[in-house]
Amino acid sequence: MKLPYAEPFRIKMVEKIRQSTKEERTKWIKDADFNLFNLSSSKVFIDLLTDSGTGAMSDEQWAALMKGDESYAGSRSFEELFETVKKITGFRYLLPTHQGRAAENVLFSVLVKDGNIIPGNSHFDTTKGHIEFRKAHAADCTIDEAFDTEINHPFKGNIDLRKLEKIYQNHPKEQIPFCLITITCNTSGGQPVSLENIKAVKELSDKYGIPIIFDGARFAENAYFIKQRESGQEHRTIKEICREIFACGIGMTMSSKKDGLVNIGGFIALNDEQIFRVASNFTIIYEGFITYGGMSGRDMAALAVGLDEATEFEYLESRISQVEYLGNQLINYNIPLQKPIGGHAVFIDALKFLPNVPREDFPAQTLGIELYKEAGIRAVEIGTLLADRDPETRENRYPKLEFLRLAIPRRTYTNNHMDYIATALKNVFDRRNEITKGYSIVWESEILRHFTVKLKEV
Ligand code: F0G
Repeated sequence: MKLPYAEPFRIKMVEKIRQSTKEERTKWIKDADFNLFNLSSSKVFIDLLTDSGTGAMSDEQWAALMKGDESYAGSRSFEELFETVKKITGFRYLLPTHQGRAAENVLFSVLVKDGNIIPGNSHFDTTKGHIEFRKAHAADCTIDEAFDTEINHPFKGNIDLRKLEKIYQNHPKEQIPFCLITITCNTSGGQPVSLENIKAVKELSDKYGIPIIFDGARFAENAYFIKQRESGQEHRTIKEICREIFACGIGMTMSSKKDGLVNIGGFIALNDEQIFRVASNFTIIYEGFITYGGMSGRDMAALAVGLDEATEFEYLESRISQVEYLGNQLINYNIPLQKPIGGHAVFIDALKFLPNVPREDFPAQTLGIELYKEAGIRAVEIGTLLADRDPETRENRYPKLEFLRLAIPRRTYTNNHMDYIATALKNVFDRRNEITKGYSIVWESEILRHFTVKLKEV
């Protein structure tokens, strides 16, 4: 008999999590103004709010942490991190930051000006926030297939070259500081970009003299999908694929809280000395000296090890097959979701799941609240609340898709937890026709409203 798959690790430390009753949860979520971000974690049984900074570190990372060098300048831990980043990405300059959005803030302070256009595949919300905050515009050039959850395209994060070229043709080069490729593309469902597409985007961008920057938050997961799905890539190592990806760009921003396998941290890696010089000044103002940028030495030491581990095939196989394990159960229950299943999360298609809830009532948020009340599982809305209002018209922006994202923290939950999540969602699915009303906004902030919005039942 063929042996079944088993994780390439064992667990050394555990953390208690607490179950609660449906009555308790119904009260708690009302007290939290129906915003899942307002819940304290003790009121959550399984936390799928994000895969960002919520994973488990390895014994090697904890060991590295003890050896962190806390020198203000030129710390040995920075040097270790620098060596690892160079090895994996090929970039020659490194600026640590306290997390991914800080890297965006520093780099965009150098590159993004009023009136600019930044084309790319569905930009992440903080990325878009940092672009729009500078009165620039993020142009989504993702392929159309990404917006139909039933189409099983292997690289739904790909950029549509015709959409991109149209932007290049209609705007002067000076208005487009770079093209941003997000790997994997979180907003469209943790979907990868193929190496072929990355190279084609580079070729086209070269023609117009526009450089490429990567948002590399989940670059290792993207490389895994390239190895698994792209012909000719199956025999290469993850690290070889990563080098080839990054060779197409002049730099990257990184949220180390994802594929860095640490709880906090980020960085900018670059090849361009001029940009590095100016970005160094912004790092000093916003983050800290250029050899720590808001990170402690011990965190940089753990990150150096984490980046190495995250780019090993065995780790990625266990990580991504767990997400697939959950997604396949949901598919068996006929629950509508973004196909194929993403790298870091399963994205439930809330418009199809709750067809009786009007769009203005935030169906994905409604589903998130139902799932929490059902089983104490906290997921996150990737829909109209997150899409914010149009900065000019102040109208709600209705994205093409309304998702409830079940983000799976790395090396944290077991497949029994996945079974529990699948059953909980099936229970909600079985009574979906009874759910006809959602929520309306009581209070919201000007920008990035979903974090703090207050809602009431319609
Ligand atoms: N880019 C992408 C693609 C992201 O997914 C995130 C964060 C960031 C940048 C910003 O990084 O959080 O370190 O400041 N995504 C988290 C999520 C928050 O839940 O998807 P950060």
